[in-house]
Amino acid sequence: MVLRQSFLIILAFFGMVLCGLIYLNTNQNSCKPQIIEKVITKKNWKLKNFGLRSPVGLVYNQPSALVSRTDVASVTPWLAPIVWEGTFDSRVIDSIYKQQNITIATTVFALGKYTRFLKDFLESAEEHYFVGFRVHFYLFTDQPEEVPNVKLGQERYLTVKTLPSMNRWQDISMSRMEILEKLIENELASEADYIFCLDVDTKFYGRWGVESLGRLVGVIHPWFFNVPRFLFTYEHRPKSQAYIPAGKGDFYYTGAAFGGSLKDVHNLTKTCREQMNIDTANSIEALWHEESHLNKYFLYNKPSKLLSPEYLWRDISMSSGSVKIIRFSHVAKNNAEVRPNL
Ligand SMILES: *[C@@H]1O[C@H](CO)[C@@H](O)[C@H](O)[C@H]1NC(C)=O
Ligand SMILES: *[C@@H]1O[C@H](CO)[C@@H](O)[C@H](O)[C@H]1NC(C)=O
Repeated sequence: MVLRQSFLIILAFFGMVLCGLIYLNTNQNSCKPQIIEKVITKKNWKLKNFGLRSPVGLVYNQPSALVSRTDVASVTPWLAPIVWEGTFDSRVIDSIYKQQNITIATTVFALGKYTRFLKDFLESAEEHYFVGFRVHFYLFTDQPEEVPNVKLGQERYLTVKTLPSMNRWQDISMSRMEILEKLIENELASEADYIFCLDVDTKFYGRWGVESLGRLVGVIHPWFFNVPRFLFTYEHRPKSQAYIPAGKGDFYYTGAAFGGSLKDVHNLTKTCREQMNIDTANSIEALWHEESHLNKYFLYNKPSKLLSPEYLWRDISMSSGSVKIIRFSHVAKNNAEVRPNL
Protein backbone atom coordinates (compact mmCIF):
# COMPACT_ATOMS: atom_id res chain seq x y z
CA MET A 1 0.00 0.00 0.00
CA VAL A 2 2.68 2.51 1.12
CA LEU A 3 4.80 1.37 -1.78
CA ARG A 4 2.08 2.02 -4.32
CA GLN A 5 1.38 5.51 -2.85
CA SER A 6 5.00 6.61 -3.03
CA PHE A 7 5.18 5.25 -6.58
CA LEU A 8 2.21 7.46 -7.55
CA ILE A 9 3.76 10.50 -5.85
CA ILE A 10 7.02 9.99 -7.73
CA LEU A 11 5.10 9.58 -10.99
CA ALA A 12 3.18 12.80 -10.39
CA PHE A 13 6.41 14.63 -9.58
CA PHE A 14 8.05 13.58 -12.83
CA GLY A 15 4.91 14.52 -14.71
CA MET A 16 5.06 18.03 -13.27
CA VAL A 17 8.73 18.43 -14.14
CA LEU A 18 8.01 17.27 -17.70
CA CYS A 19 5.12 19.75 -18.10
CA GLY A 20 7.31 22.53 -16.74
CA LEU A 21 10.04 21.75 -19.24
CA ILE A 22 7.60 21.70 -22.15
CA TYR A 23 6.11 24.99 -20.99
CA LEU A 24 9.50 26.70 -20.73
CA ASN A 25 10.52 25.41 -24.11
CA THR A 26 7.42 26.60 -26.00
CA ASN A 27 7.58 29.93 -24.23
CA GLN A 28 11.17 30.47 -25.25
CA ASN A 29 10.28 29.74 -28.84
CA SER A 30 7.57 32.35 -28.93
CA CYS A 31 10.05 34.96 -27.67
CA LYS A 32 12.64 34.34 -30.33
CA PRO A 33 13.40 37.40 -32.45
CA GLN A 34 12.85 37.27 -36.17
CA ILE A 35 16.49 37.12 -37.06
CA ILE A 36 17.99 34.29 -35.11
CA GLU A 37 21.67 33.99 -34.67
CA LYS A 38 22.65 30.67 -36.16
CA VAL A 39 25.89 28.84 -35.84
CA ILE A 40 27.60 27.36 -38.82
CA THR A 41 27.11 23.62 -38.61
CA LYS A 42 29.34 21.11 -40.34
CA LYS A 43 26.74 20.64 -43.06
CA ASN A 44 26.33 24.24 -44.13
CA TRP A 45 30.03 24.95 -43.64
CA LYS A 46 30.57 22.44 -46.45
CA LEU A 47 27.97 24.16 -48.64
CA LYS A 48 29.63 27.48 -47.98
CA ASN A 49 32.99 26.17 -49.00
CA PHE A 50 31.62 24.84 -52.24
CA GLY A 51 30.57 28.38 -53.07
CA LEU A 52 26.91 27.69 -52.43
CA ARG A 53 24.66 30.06 -50.56
CA SER A 54 24.45 29.06 -46.98
CA PRO A 55 20.90 27.98 -46.14
CA VAL A 56 21.07 29.45 -42.65
CA GLY A 57 20.67 33.12 -41.77
CA LEU A 58 23.37 35.63 -41.26
CA VAL A 59 25.95 34.92 -38.58
CA TYR A 60 26.71 37.87 -36.38
CA ASN A 61 27.73 38.78 -32.86
CA GLN A 62 25.13 38.71 -30.13
CA PRO A 63 23.79 42.22 -29.50
CA SER A 64 24.32 43.47 -25.97
CA ALA A 65 21.77 45.18 -23.79
CA LEU A 66 24.60 46.47 -21.61
CA VAL A 67 27.56 47.45 -23.71
CA SER A 68 27.69 50.13 -26.39
CA ARG A 69 29.76 53.16 -27.29
CA THR A 70 30.07 55.36 -24.23
CA ASP A 71 31.85 58.35 -25.78
CA VAL A 72 28.81 59.52 -27.76
CA ALA A 73 25.03 59.64 -27.26
CA SER A 74 23.25 57.16 -29.50
CA VAL A 75 19.70 58.20 -28.66
CA THR A 76 17.89 61.54 -28.22
CA PRO A 77 15.55 62.41 -25.31
CA TRP A 78 12.63 61.57 -27.66
CA LEU A 79 14.19 58.15 -28.32
CA ALA A 80 15.34 58.75 -31.87
CA PRO A 81 18.56 56.90 -32.66
CA ILE A 82 21.68 58.95 -33.37
CA VAL A 83 23.68 56.95 -35.89
CA TRP A 84 27.40 56.65 -35.16
CA GLU A 85 29.95 54.09 -36.22
CA GLY A 86 29.69 51.20 -33.76
CA THR A 87 25.95 51.57 -33.13
CA PHE A 88 24.86 49.26 -35.96
CA ASP A 89 26.00 46.17 -37.83
CA SER A 90 25.91 46.97 -41.53
CA ARG A 91 25.39 43.33 -42.52
CA VAL A 92 22.40 42.90 -40.23
CA ILE A 93 20.74 46.12 -41.30
CA ASP A 94 21.47 45.47 -45.00
CA SER A 95 19.92 41.99 -44.75
CA ILE A 96 16.73 43.47 -43.33
CA TYR A 97 16.34 46.14 -46.01
CA LYS A 98 17.35 43.73 -48.79
CA GLN A 99 14.03 41.96 -48.25
CA GLN A 100 12.22 45.16 -49.13
CA ASN A 101 12.24 46.42 -52.69
CA ILE A 102 13.14 50.03 -51.92
CA THR A 103 14.20 52.96 -54.05
CA ILE A 104 16.05 55.92 -52.60
CA ALA A 105 15.55 59.16 -54.52
CA THR A 106 18.47 61.54 -54.07
CA THR A 107 18.42 65.16 -55.13
CA VAL A 108 21.35 67.49 -55.80
CA PHE A 109 21.47 71.02 -57.14
CA ALA A 110 24.45 72.01 -59.29
CA LEU A 111 24.01 75.54 -60.58
CA GLY A 112 26.65 77.71 -62.21
CA LYS A 113 30.16 76.67 -61.31
CA TYR A 114 28.86 74.06 -58.88
CA THR A 115 28.72 71.57 -61.77
CA ARG A 116 32.46 71.11 -61.19
CA PHE A 117 31.64 69.09 -58.06
CA LEU A 118 29.40 66.60 -59.85
CA LYS A 119 32.03 64.17 -61.04
CA ASP A 120 33.48 63.53 -57.59
CA PHE A 121 30.05 63.53 -56.00
CA LEU A 122 28.62 60.92 -58.37
CA GLU A 123 31.72 58.75 -58.61
CA SER A 124 32.15 58.61 -54.85
CA ALA A 125 28.41 57.93 -54.42
CA GLU A 126 28.79 54.92 -56.69
CA GLU A 127 31.46 53.63 -54.36
CA HIS A 128 29.86 54.35 -50.97
CA TYR A 129 26.25 55.53 -51.11
CA PHE A 130 23.54 52.85 -50.71
CA VAL A 131 25.71 50.34 -52.54
CA GLY A 132 23.56 47.38 -53.67
CA PHE A 133 20.31 49.35 -53.42
CA ARG A 134 18.26 51.12 -56.07
CA VAL A 135 19.15 54.80 -56.12
CA HIS A 136 17.66 57.41 -58.43
CA PHE A 137 19.57 60.70 -58.57
CA TYR A 138 17.64 63.79 -59.59
CA LEU A 139 20.08 66.46 -60.61
CA PHE A 140 18.92 70.04 -61.01
CA THR A 141 21.19 72.29 -63.04
CA ASP A 142 21.20 75.32 -65.30
CA GLN A 143 24.16 73.87 -67.23
CA PRO A 144 23.01 70.44 -68.44
CA GLU A 145 25.87 70.37 -70.97
CA GLU A 146 28.34 70.44 -68.05
CA VAL A 147 27.00 67.25 -66.45
CA PRO A 148 29.85 64.72 -66.57
CA ASN A 149 29.33 61.29 -67.99
CA VAL A 150 29.67 59.07 -64.95
CA LYS A 151 29.08 55.37 -65.44
CA LEU A 152 26.40 54.24 -63.01
CA GLY A 153 26.00 50.71 -61.74
CA GLN A 154 23.02 48.42 -62.03
CA GLU A 155 19.77 49.88 -60.65
CA ARG A 156 21.38 53.31 -60.32
CA TYR A 157 19.68 56.04 -62.31
CA LEU A 158 20.30 59.72 -63.02
CA THR A 159 17.69 62.17 -64.25
CA VAL A 160 18.93 65.64 -65.21
CA LYS A 161 16.45 68.51 -64.82
CA THR A 162 17.17 71.89 -66.29
CA LEU A 163 16.54 75.02 -64.25
CA PRO A 164 16.82 78.67 -65.24
CA SER A 165 19.97 80.40 -63.98
CA MET A 166 19.69 82.25 -60.69
CA ASN A 167 21.78 85.14 -59.58
CA ARG A 168 22.30 84.71 -55.88
CA TRP A 169 23.27 81.48 -54.17
CA GLN A 170 20.79 82.42 -51.45
CA ASP A 171 18.01 82.33 -54.07
CA ILE A 172 19.14 78.91 -55.21
CA SER A 173 19.04 77.73 -51.64
CA MET A 174 15.63 79.30 -51.02
CA SER A 175 13.95 77.88 -54.11
CA ARG A 176 15.28 74.41 -53.44
CA MET A 177 12.44 73.69 -51.02
CA GLU A 178 9.78 74.55 -53.56
CA ILE A 179 11.44 72.48 -56.29
CA LEU A 180 11.72 69.49 -53.95
CA GLU A 181 8.11 69.87 -52.88
CA LYS A 182 6.94 69.78 -56.51
CA LEU A 183 9.27 66.91 -57.42
CA ILE A 184 7.84 64.75 -54.64
CA GLU A 185 4.26 65.69 -55.56
CA ASN A 186 4.57 65.24 -59.31
CA GLU A 187 7.09 62.51 -59.87
CA LEU A 188 8.24 60.53 -56.90
CA ALA A 189 5.03 59.20 -55.42
CA SER A 190 5.16 55.93 -57.35
CA GLU A 191 8.91 56.00 -57.97
CA ALA A 192 10.62 56.05 -54.61
CA ASP A 193 10.23 55.12 -50.95
CA TYR A 194 12.76 57.46 -49.36
CA ILE A 195 14.43 60.67 -50.38
CA PHE A 196 17.67 62.38 -49.39
CA CYS A 197 18.46 65.95 -50.39
CA LEU A 198 22.20 66.53 -50.49
CA ASP A 199 24.56 69.40 -51.24
CA VAL A 200 26.73 68.83 -54.30
CA ASP A 201 30.00 70.38 -53.08
CA THR A 202 30.60 67.17 -51.16
CA LYS A 203 32.16 63.77 -51.52
CA PHE A 204 31.62 60.32 -50.01
CA TYR A 205 34.56 58.69 -48.24
CA GLY A 206 32.82 55.86 -46.39
CA ARG A 207 29.65 53.85 -46.22
CA TRP A 208 26.35 55.75 -46.21
CA GLY A 209 23.73 53.02 -46.24
CA VAL A 210 20.31 51.88 -45.07
CA GLU A 211 21.19 52.64 -41.43
CA SER A 212 20.36 56.24 -42.39
CA LEU A 213 16.78 55.49 -43.44
CA GLY A 214 13.87 56.69 -41.35
CA ARG A 215 10.62 58.60 -41.42
CA LEU A 216 12.29 61.99 -40.91
CA VAL A 217 16.07 62.22 -40.87
CA GLY A 218 18.28 65.15 -39.86
CA VAL A 219 22.07 65.39 -39.83
CA ILE A 220 23.78 67.10 -36.90
CA HIS A 221 25.87 70.00 -38.19
CA PRO A 222 29.60 69.25 -37.93
CA TRP A 223 30.45 72.65 -36.42
CA PHE A 224 27.84 72.50 -33.65
CA PHE A 225 27.66 68.94 -32.32
CA ASN A 226 29.86 69.72 -29.34
CA VAL A 227 28.85 73.25 -28.32
CA PRO A 228 26.14 74.71 -26.03
CA ARG A 229 22.97 75.83 -27.77
CA PHE A 230 23.51 79.56 -27.27
CA LEU A 231 26.17 79.24 -29.97
CA PHE A 232 23.77 77.67 -32.49
CA THR A 233 23.20 80.02 -35.44
CA TYR A 234 19.40 79.79 -35.28
CA GLU A 235 17.28 82.73 -36.48
CA HIS A 236 16.70 84.80 -33.34
CA ARG A 237 14.64 87.67 -34.78
CA PRO A 238 10.94 87.15 -33.91
CA LYS A 239 9.93 88.80 -37.20
CA SER A 240 11.11 85.74 -39.15
CA GLN A 241 9.06 82.55 -39.39
CA ALA A 242 12.30 80.67 -38.66
CA TYR A 243 12.49 82.33 -35.22
CA ILE A 244 13.66 80.15 -32.37
CA PRO A 245 13.69 81.86 -28.96
CA ALA A 246 16.92 82.00 -26.99
CA GLY A 247 17.32 78.97 -24.74
CA LYS A 248 15.38 76.69 -27.09
CA GLY A 249 16.52 74.10 -29.58
CA ASP A 250 17.78 70.52 -29.47
CA PHE A 251 20.55 70.24 -32.03
CA TYR A 252 21.75 72.41 -34.87
CA TYR A 253 21.00 70.52 -38.07
CA THR A 254 22.74 71.05 -41.39
CA GLY A 255 20.82 72.13 -44.46
CA ALA A 256 23.34 70.22 -46.57
CA ALA A 257 21.71 66.82 -45.99
CA PHE A 258 18.25 65.79 -44.83
CA GLY A 259 15.76 63.12 -45.82
CA GLY A 260 13.14 60.60 -44.86
CA SER A 261 9.94 59.15 -46.23
CA LEU A 262 8.35 60.94 -49.18
CA LYS A 263 5.38 61.99 -47.06
CA ASP A 264 7.44 63.49 -44.27
CA VAL A 265 9.96 65.24 -46.51
CA HIS A 266 7.09 66.59 -48.57
CA ASN A 267 5.57 68.14 -45.46
CA LEU A 268 8.97 69.54 -44.48
CA THR A 269 9.66 71.15 -47.87
CA LYS A 270 6.10 72.47 -48.13
CA THR A 271 6.23 74.00 -44.65
CA CYS A 272 9.66 75.57 -45.20
CA ARG A 273 8.56 76.95 -48.57
CA GLU A 274 5.45 78.51 -47.01
CA GLN A 275 7.43 80.00 -44.13
CA MET A 276 10.02 81.44 -46.51
CA ASN A 277 7.26 83.00 -48.61
CA ILE A 278 5.87 84.72 -45.51
CA ASP A 279 9.37 85.99 -44.70
CA THR A 280 9.78 87.34 -48.23
CA ALA A 281 6.43 89.16 -47.93
CA ASN A 282 7.70 90.65 -44.66
CA SER A 283 11.02 91.64 -46.25
CA ILE A 284 13.10 89.43 -44.02
CA GLU A 285 15.47 86.64 -44.95
CA ALA A 286 16.45 84.18 -42.25
CA LEU A 287 20.09 84.23 -41.16
CA TRP A 288 21.02 80.92 -42.76
CA HIS A 289 18.20 80.83 -45.31
CA GLU A 290 16.64 77.40 -45.75
CA GLU A 291 18.85 75.93 -43.02
CA SER A 292 17.23 78.29 -40.49
CA HIS A 293 13.75 77.16 -41.56
CA LEU A 294 14.82 73.52 -41.49
CA ASN A 295 16.01 73.96 -37.90
CA LYS A 296 12.72 75.53 -36.92
CA TYR A 297 10.83 72.64 -38.54
CA PHE A 298 12.95 70.01 -36.78
CA LEU A 299 12.45 71.69 -33.42
CA TYR A 300 8.67 71.27 -33.62
CA ASN A 301 8.59 68.14 -35.82
CA LYS A 302 11.30 66.02 -34.23
CA PRO A 303 13.35 63.86 -36.59
CA SER A 304 12.80 60.14 -36.06
CA LYS A 305 16.47 59.49 -36.73
CA LEU A 306 19.56 61.66 -36.44
CA LEU A 307 22.80 61.12 -38.29
CA SER A 308 26.02 62.02 -36.50
CA PRO A 309 28.53 64.39 -38.13
CA GLU A 310 30.11 61.29 -39.72
CA TYR A 311 27.38 61.86 -42.30
CA LEU A 312 28.53 65.40 -43.08
CA TRP A 313 31.97 66.29 -41.91
CA ARG A 314 33.62 69.71 -42.28
CA ASP A 315 36.42 68.81 -44.57
CA ILE A 316 38.16 65.47 -45.03
CA SER A 317 41.50 66.89 -43.95
CA MET A 318 40.24 68.00 -40.54
CA SER A 319 40.77 65.76 -37.53
CA SER A 320 37.68 64.41 -35.92
CA GLY A 321 37.86 63.04 -32.33
CA SER A 322 34.66 61.12 -31.64
CA VAL A 323 33.98 60.98 -35.38
CA LYS A 324 35.70 57.66 -36.06
CA ILE A 325 34.88 57.49 -39.73
CA ILE A 326 34.15 60.23 -42.22
CA ARG A 327 31.42 59.03 -44.54
CA PHE A 328 30.52 62.24 -46.33
CA SER A 329 32.17 65.60 -46.25
CA HIS A 330 32.10 69.03 -47.76
CA VAL A 331 35.02 69.53 -50.10
CA ALA A 332 37.32 72.46 -49.49
CA LYS A 333 36.29 75.25 -51.81
CA ASN A 334 36.77 78.91 -52.35
CA ASN A 335 33.27 80.30 -51.76
CA ALA A 336 34.07 83.62 -53.41
CA GLU A 337 35.04 81.81 -56.56
CA VAL A 338 32.11 79.42 -56.99
CA ARG A 339 29.25 81.47 -55.56
CA PRO A 340 27.80 83.93 -58.06
CA ASN A 341 27.51 87.66 -57.23
CA LEU A 342 28.83 87.73 -53.73
C1 LIG B 1 10.81 46.39 -57.33
O1 LIG B 1 10.65 47.76 -57.63
C2 LIG B 1 10.90 48.04 -59.00
C3 LIG B 1 10.89 49.55 -59.16
O2 LIG B 1 9.93 50.17 -58.39
C4 LIG B 1 9.88 47.35 -59.86
O3 LIG B 1 10.13 47.62 -61.21
C5 LIG B 1 9.96 45.86 -59.61
O4 LIG B 1 8.94 45.20 -60.32
C6 LIG B 1 9.83 45.56 -58.13
N1 LIG B 1 10.08 44.14 -57.90
C7 LIG B 1 9.34 43.41 -57.08
C8 LIG B 1 9.74 41.98 -56.94
O5 LIG B 1 8.37 43.86 -56.48
C1 LIG C 1 3.35 68.96 -41.29
O1 LIG C 1 3.92 70.19 -40.85
C2 LIG C 1 3.11 70.93 -39.99
C3 LIG C 1 3.82 72.22 -39.72
O2 LIG C 1 3.69 73.02 -40.83
C4 LIG C 1 2.87 70.17 -38.72
O3 LIG C 1 2.02 70.90 -37.86
C5 LIG C 1 2.24 68.83 -39.05
O4 LIG C 1 2.15 68.05 -37.89
C6 LIG C 1 3.10 68.09 -40.06
N1 LIG C 1 2.42 66.88 -40.48
C7 LIG C 1 3.07 65.73 -40.56
C8 LIG C 1 2.23 64.58 -41.01
O5 LIG C 1 4.24 65.59 -40.29
